[in-house]
Amino acid sequence: STKALILVGGSQRGTRFRPLSLDLPKPLFEVAGHPIIWHCLTALTKIDVKEVFLIGYYDESVFRDFIRDASKEFPQFVIKYLREYQPLGTAGGLYHFRDVIQKGSPKRFFVLNADVCCSFPLKEMLQLSDDREAEAVILGTRVSNEAASNFGCIVSDPGKRVLHYVEKPESHISNLINCGVYLFDSSIIFKIRKAMEVKAKRIASDPLYDPTEEGSSDDVLRLEQDILGPLADEKNFYVYETRDFWRQIKTAGSAVPANALYLQKAYQSGSEDLPAASATIIPPVYIHPTASVDPTAKLGPNVSIGPRAVVGPGARVKESIVLEDAEIKHDACVLYSIVGWGARIGAWARVEGTPISVTQHTTTVLKNGVKVQSVTILAKDCVVHDEIRVQNCVCLPYKELKKDVANEVIM
Ligand code: GDD
Ligand code: GTP
Repeated sequence: STKALILVGGSQRGTRFRPLSLDLPKPLFEVAGHPIIWHCLTALTKIDVKEVFLIGYYDESVFRDFIRDASKEFPQFVIKYLREYQPLGTAGGLYHFRDVIQKGSPKRFFVLNADVCCSFPLKEMLQLSDDREAEAVILGTRVSNEAASNFGCIVSDPGKRVLHYVEKPESHISNLINCGVYLFDSSIIFKIRKAMEVKAKRIASDPLYDPTEEGSSDDVLRLEQDILGPLADEKNFYVYETRDFWRQIKTAGSAVPANALYLQKAYQSGSEDLPAASATIIPPVYIHPTASVDPTAKLGPNVSIGPRAVVGPGARVKESIVLEDAEIKHDACVLYSIVGWGARIGAWARVEGTPISVTQHTTTVLKNGVKVQSVTILAKDCVVHDEIRVQNCVCLPYKELKKDVANEVIM
């Protein structure tokens, strides 16, 4: 069997997920009714995995409840949190915890970035790895040329062999990008050890070495630059290109497309959790069993309603996430937005974002020549008064909106 490692990062990270990460670590944010990392675990149930390690530098207590619940829901896994004493980079943790990873001598292991949303074609990656006896298989997807340089870029030959890998290149080299999902042969641990030694030597011989500079500490190692780049020169590195959906969950606004994609996937697979189409439900929609939605409210497509949330008569909610204990009063309209925990939206109010093109991999739009958030975000306990209109705004926790606002960050 295989092991799986999920890189969850830590509390100093996820800053672009603010203001939603102020109240909850990003990996636990719920899209389509479940924490982001729950979707990773679900994907892992489709293959033979017995152990899953979450690797990060959040406090020990952060994932305790999640792991307890997930261990019941996914009895086929042992799930453990491995805490880094400081951010070690995307490969530093793999090195630090190498004994745990190598215990029982697994032939290979998966590494997943926690902050991606996709269909996780893990079986296909295993198959490719078998066919080519690969040392590493990376999941790739095509994006627009403009978007590509925000990601790791892959140049491959027709036989799927990776010839060249460059992390966030300055100039265009390829529109096949790194999805943040890898399958490694155990031998990669030796490569990581080598890279560590190379780095230590470089530090020892560098008179200008500054350990306080970000990422320069001697136990930090970056999977992308320090391992994948060199690996591409060795001819045993392959890419599986997915044509299914893939999105990064970086900014808070990117939770909206992730929610939509996971809801569509659940609906297509006939999930019994999701209500059928009706006069007032345009699937896919997720409604938590404890939420209260008035039968005259119209929901969907791509809407999640969280625990104990209340949606009043005549309200309209579309392409949005409504979190725990939020309230949407009668005849209010919520489009392309995230309504935070305990937020309240008044009667006849309009809270709106702008649709984003799926291929652009961005969550900002240009309005009158200025970059603004495409998704409107009301953080925890915000209040929008009756008949107020909020457009393309990010509203920090506990704010009260008494007049119309557009294209602003409300602090
Ligand atoms: N444990 C741990 N320790 N996790 C970390 C650390 C660390 O020090 N630093 C980052 N991570 C986790 C993040 O939580 C995230 O899940 C993942 O590693 C990658 O995060 P970043 O290092 O911020 O990279 P990125 O998201 O900008 O880009 C990466 O992902 C893209 C796909 O989403 C790269 O791998 C790109 O090449 C790739 O295209
Ligand atoms: P579909 O076109 O089938 O999605 O139905 P729809 O016409 O209700 O939704 P549309 O896609 O046009 O987007 C939502 C729209 O609902 C907004 O543009 C508003 O014009 C309208 N709307 C605004 N306030 C309310 C309200 O209180 N209740 C309802 N039902 N709709 C509202």
